[in-house]
Amino acid sequence: MTVSIDYPDDATPLDPGEMEGLRYKHVTTRGELDHLEQVNIQNGLQWLARRKKIDALDEKFIRELHKRLFGEVWKWAGEFRKTEKNLGVDPLQISVQLRTLLGDVEYWIENGTYKPKEIGIRFHHRLVHIHLFPNGNGRHARILADTLLNRVLGEEPIDWVRGVDLQSMNERRSEYITALGKADRGDYDPLFKFINL
Ligand SMILES: Nc1ncnc2c1ncn2[C@@H]1O[C@H](COP(=O)(O)OP(=O)(O)OP(=O)(O)O)[C@@H](O)[C@H]1O
Ligand SMILES: [Mg+2]
Repeated sequence: MTVSIDYPDDATPLDPGEMEGLRYKHVTTRGELDHLEQVNIQNGLQWLARRKKIDALDEKFIRELHKRLFGEVWKWAGEFRKTEKNLGVDPLQISVQLRTLLGDVEYWIENGTYKPKEIGIRFHHRLVHIHLFPNGNGRHARILADTLLNRVLGEEPIDWVRGVDLQSMNERRSEYITALGKADRGDYDPLFKFINL
């Protein structure tokens, strides 16, 4: 069955091959899909909470986390994107750019280049900018940035939502998306403001 899912303008649509990876063939609406993903994410977060070894800056861990968050719904969870999207780098560049990013973050931590929260938000932005996976990049990269802050650096996680659902269209989501776009062009101030930095 084909699902015509009505995505927010700034989310990346899935191509037919990626839609094939949906494990639930009866899904017909965006609401149903959101719900299934939400349940999967809750299970993934439980896995994360139980896990003792957190290699937040390791490619294998980063992919495993995506698989735990989305793998009950999507067969391709945890595998890097193979198709071009309106967002993100050329698929062939994903692993190289991720490796560069992980090296940068390690350097920032070792040298205290930025405060931990700033490291977290820069890490988040660079992850969604690369756009590792066909879908779930925003949610995965928010959880991963919080995992780095909380479990590795011993800091408070970022208050992304402030009581607002970031997934649906609303003012806070537009502020978030606009700020990411500015950060793409090198201006991080709106993103810092977004998280009250
Ligand atoms: N201009 C941009 N630059 C960098 N990242 C962006 C930009 N616009 C959107 N994004 C990121 O891409 C995400 C959407 O990608 P994707 O659909 O893969 O993630 P998602 O987790 O399914 O999204 P959602 O945030 O709707 O849950 C947004 O949440 C945001 O983090
Ligand atoms: Mg999406």
